[in-house]
Amino acid sequence: MWHWGGKQILEVTMEYKFSDKVGNKGFDGLGLMMSYLKNPDIIPFAGGSPDSSVFPNKKLAELAKDILMKNPVTALQYNIPIGYEPLRELSAKRSKEKCGAGRDFDRVVITSGGAQGIDITARILLNEGDTVVAENPSFMGSIGSFKSFCANVVGAEMEDDGVNLEQLENAFKIEKNVKFFYCIPNFNNPTGLTTSLEKRKKIYELCKKYGVLIVEDNPYGELRFSGEAIPSIKSFDEDGIVIYVSSYSKIIAPGIRIGFVIAPEKITEEIVRVKQFGDLHTNVFWQMLVTEFVNSVDFDTHIDNIKNLYARKCTLMMSELNKKFDKSIKIAPAKGGMFLWCTLPETDMDTIELFSITGERGVVFIPGMSFVTDSRKTSNSFRLNFTMPSEEQIIKGSDILSNFFN
Ligand SMILES: Cc1ncc(COP(=O)(O)O)c(C=O)c1O
Repeated sequence: MWHWGGKQILEVTMEYKFSDKVGNKGFDGLGLMMSYLKNPDIIPFAGGSPDSSVFPNKKLAELAKDILMKNPVTALQYNIPIGYEPLRELSAKRSKEKCGAGRDFDRVVITSGGAQGIDITARILLNEGDTVVAENPSFMGSIGSFKSFCANVVGAEMEDDGVNLEQLENAFKIEKNVKFFYCIPNFNNPTGLTTSLEKRKKIYELCKKYGVLIVEDNPYGELRFSGEAIPSIKSFDEDGIVIYVSSYSKIIAPGIRIGFVIAPEKITEEIVRVKQFGDLHTNVFWQMLVTEFVNSVDFDTHIDNIKNLYARKCTLMMSELNKKFDKSIKIAPAKGGMFLWCTLPETDMDTIELFSITGERGVVFIPGMSFVTDSRKTSNSFRLNFTMPSEEQIIKGSDILSNFFN
């Protein structure tokens, strides 16, 4: 028995029978990360969130008032599921300019974050027992979504320049009903690694050869702070096999939940049909606000400011770790995005075992096993986020971790 709002209420005794599809299947990396982020005393190397100082709250407040006064009906009434037309046009234009994504046969659907774009794509494509091949390690949210549709998720190992092509082809040859290859070619979450242009082309050719679609997830592409931008896989898409997903989460703010999918019309029609079942449409007020924001500020300068801050934090974290960590711990250097990936020399070590101990000392990371495609496997790696902690926390957290690991 417990109290809620002063009233005594009964504890629920019902035993809920959750679906086998989404029921708890072991380690919950996302949940764990969120629970630690709530504790302000813990240094948040485990997070996956932007530095909140870059949120353009004042400009958004000003534009929000304008929209609500001048265009209240559009902002507040039900709207169409495909998304607010000006934002669809803007997203198409920017994606073409920034990474060559989008052709005549493609359409844009606005989604509630990139996460919904990936989830609905999985929902329209996957039957129980179909296979998704994914970079290993990969984003836990997407892997969780694919598994919730009872897909067989098969990993192909990430290398410094992208996925291992031999393993990728092998998976296409031997696995049953491979529906799509899921990849994060720019600053993969969790490894921070980027797929080279050469490999992007080979991935495209391999997928075309085996009749496998590509889901290209690109939330971090615009956060490159060193080196040259590489065209998206979608930019080679003459055959209508690439579903491109991106988002405004990392370049405006994640709480707004605005993302988009660019894909051939036959696919977007199906996405739109299915999206209606879930949320009718993405929050239209925020779609308008994003459009107004991007059009009324110097958006490239806004992104440059974010990149400059992240470059500084990433460099600081790299230099602190390189200075303090034992040399046998491998740190993958990042040229953008939000993460560093560290690997311990002991191959039989499972970093999940260390997680709660470092947590007690005031710093948390995400253990590598949260990102492995095969949940029976362990990992001797862990992910560190450099965007959320302050520079002071980066120095202090690196100290704590190196004292622990060395
Ligand atoms: C690789 C990747 N894809 C998709 C997402 C989902 O982002 P959002 O739904 O906020 O656009 C994230 C979030 O961190 C991510 O890291």
